[in-house]
Amino acid sequence: MWHFSFFSFSFCFLLFFFLVPHQNGSPVGTISADLLNQTCKKCADESTIFSYNFCLTSLQAIPVSHATNLQGLAIVAMELALENATNTVSTIKELLNGGGAFDPFSIACLEGCLEIYLDVVSRLVNSIGVFLSENYDTADAWVSAVMDETATCEGGFKGEEGAIVPSPLTKENYNLFQLCDIALCIIHLLTLIPQAPLQVGCVAP
Ligand SMILES: *[C@@H]1O[C@H](CO)[C@@H](O)[C@H](O)[C@H]1NC(C)=O
Ligand SMILES: *[C@@H]1O[C@H](CO)[C@@H](O)[C@H](O)[C@H]1NC(C)=O
Repeated sequence: MWHFSFFSFSFCFLLFFFLVPHQNGSPVGTISADLLNQTCKKCADESTIFSYNFCLTSLQAIPVSHATNLQGLAIVAMELALENATNTVSTIKELLNGGGAFDPFSIACLEGCLEIYLDVVSRLVNSIGVFLSENYDTADAWVSAVMDETATCEGGFKGEEGAIVPSPLTKENYNLFQLCDIALCIIHLLTLIPQAPLQVGCVAP
């Protein structure tokens, strides 16, 4: 249950993060609500697989998304991805414990995906860590790696000679891919603009 304590930790962190004034000293809440729309739009314009609606719906569901800056949005996307991946670990375990519903090939694939998703969870925790220390290149590489891993899990069910069994994890793989794509796009945007420092400390100059 370590992930629960991680979530509590990160939630406190998030609260702290969003309670501190950000870029240009503008107080939280005055940052334009358009940021969400604009960010999702900008990302969708840059990639054909990026879903504007998925981006908007996912981020809108989190109240803090309405009152933050780009860094905050990236954290929200990574936290959502982490929560998603953690839930998928449980989903896969339930499928495996369901008893007899799957053929041996599917079971082997599910076991492979379980390993992948356990790895994904720790990779996302680490990605959030390096992101918070503003190591955007590493965060970029690790979030990209997670996207590759969703493809590996999904592709496993296709076997060597084309489609053998339908993947029971298509929705999960798609959701995680899209959430990571949001984070990745925002990380790219952050590397393009001059950096305002991440303000998570209490000391104001
Ligand atoms: C964001 O986009 C949605 C859907 O396109 C629209 O309904 C909403 O008014 C937009 N919000 C802002 C702040 O532009
Ligand atoms: C995964 O994330 C998507 C998008 O935010 C959400 O709609 C879905 O309910 C989440 N699924 C789980 C199992 O957490």
